[in-house]
Amino acid sequence: MKAPYHEIGIVNTREMFRKAMEGGYAVPAYNFNNMEQLQAIIVGCVESRSPVILQVSKGARDYANQTLLRYMAMGAVQMAREMDSRIPITLHLDHGDSFELCKSCIQSGFSSVMIDGSHLPYEENIKLTKQVVDYANPYDVSVEGELGVLAGIEDEVSSEVSHYTDPKQVQDFVDRTGVHSLAISIGTSHGAYKFKLKPGEAVPPLRFDILREVEKRLPGFPIVLHGASSVLQKYVAMINAYGGNLQGAAGVPEEQLREAARSAVCKINIDTDGRMVVTAVVRRILAENPGEFDPRKYLGPARKELMEVIKHKNTNVLGSAGRY
Ligand code: G3H
Ligand code: 13P
Ligand code: ZN
Repeated sequence: MKAPYHEIGIVNTREMFRKAMEGGYAVPAYNFNNMEQLQAIIVGCVESRSPVILQVSKGARDYANQTLLRYMAMGAVQMAREMDSRIPITLHLDHGDSFELCKSCIQSGFSSVMIDGSHLPYEENIKLTKQVVDYANPYDVSVEGELGVLAGIEDEVSSEVSHYTDPKQVQDFVDRTGVHSLAISIGTSHGAYKFKLKPGEAVPPLRFDILREVEKRLPGFPIVLHGASSVLQKYVAMINAYGGNLQGAAGVPEEQLREAARSAVCKINIDTDGRMVVTAVVRRILAENPGEFDPRKYLGPARKELMEVIKHKNTNVLGSAGRY
């Protein structure tokens, strides 16, 4: 069945993940809500020759309008091609919370959807995930499921505590749902405050033991890491220096993400870092130039900085740079 996404020039994640698994790197999944973020992601990935997953949350759909987002993605593909780039681009629904939402995204041109039933009882998660997979398969749309709960905000689902993924469940879940990739919980969480650290205390390591156990039980199967921003301290400091207040913000160290990317982790989700870069630069420019009121004068430099951070991540953290 011809899926609406075929008209947009985007792809599903199958080939991307196969290559990432083979090459020992992870494909970046960057969230976007506006034009400047999208431009930074596309130009950053074109210039570093990295595949990319453009990620849209339910909140982003409400903010920017689903139809507009579809055409923005279409424009982004055109822009990349005009830059003479063949990088594969996926348009993905992040944290879909219902069958209807996934269906609507597939019909409006998404090539990949996440159905997040991680907060549901196990059997209900299976039932919902399978329903989405059965709908998506004839359109050749990729489906990501989740087992285990991340602490923090998962779009409109929030959780105080995390529950690590139980490796004993993963094979059964994948077999019974037919899902194409699986997000797992190994100690990351969403947002800017991933770890409560006492002064001088280091960030605890991710639960690589769980990841290895999952890999053993699902050999060659693509694993997804959510909540994978590093909360770059340069931008925390800049935000705080220019009137912000982000005390104690901490993220996943880059070396740990690099290690995860070398394993079965094929997709790494990054939203918070992008938000922080933009906020830091906008704060600095407005503080230094109180008379400025042209958004291009502060959003332009913010976009440029975000593009540099994206190139850095692709090159030095995910290892996805130079693959296309
Ligand atoms: O996982 C959550 C993402 O960072 C999306 O956040 O729901 O505020 O757009 P949002
Ligand atoms: P961060 O909050 O760590 O950027 O995670 C984003 C994410 O997982 C989106 O699904
Ligand atoms: Zn997430």
